[in-house]
Amino acid sequence: MRTYLRSPSRTAAHASPARQLPCQVVTVSGQMSQELAQIIGFAAHPTVHSIENIDHAFDSDDEIVLFDLDLALGAAVAAVREALATHRDRPKRLIFIVDPNRRAPRFQAGVLGASTVLPRPLQLSQLRDALQPRPAGMHEDIKLTPQQERYFGTSSAAMELVNKLAQGMGDASPGALKHEARELMASFDALGLEGWLHTMRAHHDATFQHCLIVTGTATAFARHLGFHDSDVERLTLGALLHDVGKARIPLSILEKPGPLNAMEEKIMRTHPRLGADILTSAGDFDQELMDIVLHHHELLDGAGYPDGLSGDEISDVVRLTTICDVFGALMERRSYKPPMARDQAFAVLVDMGPKLDQLLVKAFKPIALETH
Ligand SMILES: [Fe+2]
Ligand SMILES: [Fe+2]
Repeated sequence: MRTYLRSPSRTAAHASPARQLPCQVVTVSGQMSQELAQIIGFAAHPTVHSIENIDHAFDSDDEIVLFDLDLALGAAVAAVREALATHRDRPKRLIFIVDPNRRAPRFQAGVLGASTVLPRPLQLSQLRDALQPRPAGMHEDIKLTPQQERYFGTSSAAMELVNKLAQGMGDASPGALKHEARELMASFDALGLEGWLHTMRAHHDATFQHCLIVTGTATAFARHLGFHDSDVERLTLGALLHDVGKARIPLSILEKPGPLNAMEEKIMRTHPRLGADILTSAGDFDQELMDIVLHHHELLDGAGYPDGLSGDEISDVVRLTTICDVFGALMERRSYKPPMARDQAFAVLVDMGPKLDQLLVKAFKPIALETH
């Protein structure tokens, strides 16, 4: 499919197979970057391809392709996208090295289907972990039907717009976001909650997966409660945007595969306020949306954040979103945790007692257990 083959693939022929890195590396030049060479150069001799020769990486029998590219470069992204489409029959684990302080490349890696995103500066231990064979039960990828793949694409488009909003890019207007919310509702109606959860769990980016699972759950709940279409749409959009503030939280905290320490937790807890700031600077978003973004971590007993609201200070629409948010977090599939069973997840909501609106939790039961 590619007609230009300017630089040949460089294979370190002298490397013994035992010391060969178990992956193919793609860089802009076909040479390892200094950073990557410093980390792994002494230990192994990877096969490195230039972006023009990306097809060679996919033709290889190695399961992993490691990208050391600047994903802010449109041409690089286009080449990766084209190679993924051409080699659909040879699915690979994709590892991208990105600058954690730049949201666009990180998000782009997620949209391209990254199995792992490694932050710069690169750590050898993280790279080693990423190159490990997957543990039993994690090896098989989630299989999607063509219909599910189509809706996966719709979701990617919606999240791309959310990302643009977070970056203050003008084309993420409230009107465009409402349009995406309607598209998501249509996708959701076609898939149902179970199909939706399955589809979104196929995405490796934790924030992407979370936002879309909460969105589908909120759509299902609003439909079940008999909301008018316009109200379902408002709630769907609120759920889609509820964590937009996470766009400004460092990747090392967002993707940490374990509990956060006190300082990291403090930073994480700034995301509702950051999200509200993003909406304020974008302008033209209604108060209800602002309320969802700012207050979805408030709890009825006053133990939530950022404002420590309690009881009647928390609106119905926020209470409803909070239930979907907690349920969504439990339903997520992460590399270190499988999704919780639905009945167990519902039991967690019940166990939270006075923190949540238990009348709403009761109304949510048929959604949680999918008996509606
Ligand atoms: Fe949140
Ligand atoms: Fe959330």
